[in-house]
Amino acid sequence: MPRCCYHDEYGEVFPPAEAASQARRFRRRGLAGTDARLVSMLRAEGVADAHVLEVGGGVGDVLVALFDAGAAHAIDVDLSPSWVEAARRFVDEHGYGERFEARAGDFVDEAALLPEVDVVILNRVVCCYPDMDAMLAAAAGRSRRVLALVYPADRWTNRAAIAIANLWFRLRRLQFRVFVHPEASMRSVLRAAGMEVVRQRSGVVWRTVVLTRSPALPSLRSHPEQS
Ligand SMILES: C[S@@+](CC[C@H](N)C(=O)[O-])C[C@H]1O[C@@H](n2cnc3c(N)ncnc32)[C@H](O)[C@@H]1O
Repeated sequence: MPRCCYHDEYGEVFPPAEAASQARRFRRRGLAGTDARLVSMLRAEGVADAHVLEVGGGVGDVLVALFDAGAAHAIDVDLSPSWVEAARRFVDEHGYGERFEARAGDFVDEAALLPEVDVVILNRVVCCYPDMDAMLAAAAGRSRRVLALVYPADRWTNRAAIAIANLWFRLRRLQFRVFVHPEASMRSVLRAAGMEVVRQRSGVVWRTVVLTRSPALPSLRSHPEQS
């Protein structure tokens, strides 16, 4: 499976207007839906004093909620440059700017340059990237303790919705595509990277899974993605 080759399209698919609307929604009613569920599952694992890395963190609303819950530091890496800017402004507006770093780029390419952290988050991100194996192995490789994922459950309804979305991208002459990656393959990549599922919840579309590093599985250092 090729790595992602259409980086410049992420800014078009995830434009500033969508970040602004996410920010407005958070100001109006705080976190809701899968985002609220994700934060509550992470809080149950413990986020006090945690160093967090979010890939494709959107406007930074989940990170603000984790700062509110006591997280010490956060990094966001996003392929959409305007969302990186939006996240900087949003986190700063909530008073956490000094403990936050936002970088534009492909996380899979940047991973080796990033520090290991306590908690890594991919919230609706793996479905926007073709090389699931590389992304999950890199994410697991940065996590000392917890890895949280939100992705579309591997069901025919999601596969049908995604086929329609991809038709829309094709009509717009974009190479960008969305994916329902097979869950069995995702789990096997994560297990090979030493991560074990400890919590999971499913909604109509999204599955939220929290994994922790298992002493019984291969260690962080022994995974081939690590250097
Ligand atoms: C559907 S949005 C989700 C945003 C946010 N997490 C949320 O749930 O609202 C997917 C995000 O992932 C980012 N993304 C996808 N693949 C990425 C990669 N390899 N490296 C960094 N960001 C990536 C996109 O740029 C986009 O911001």
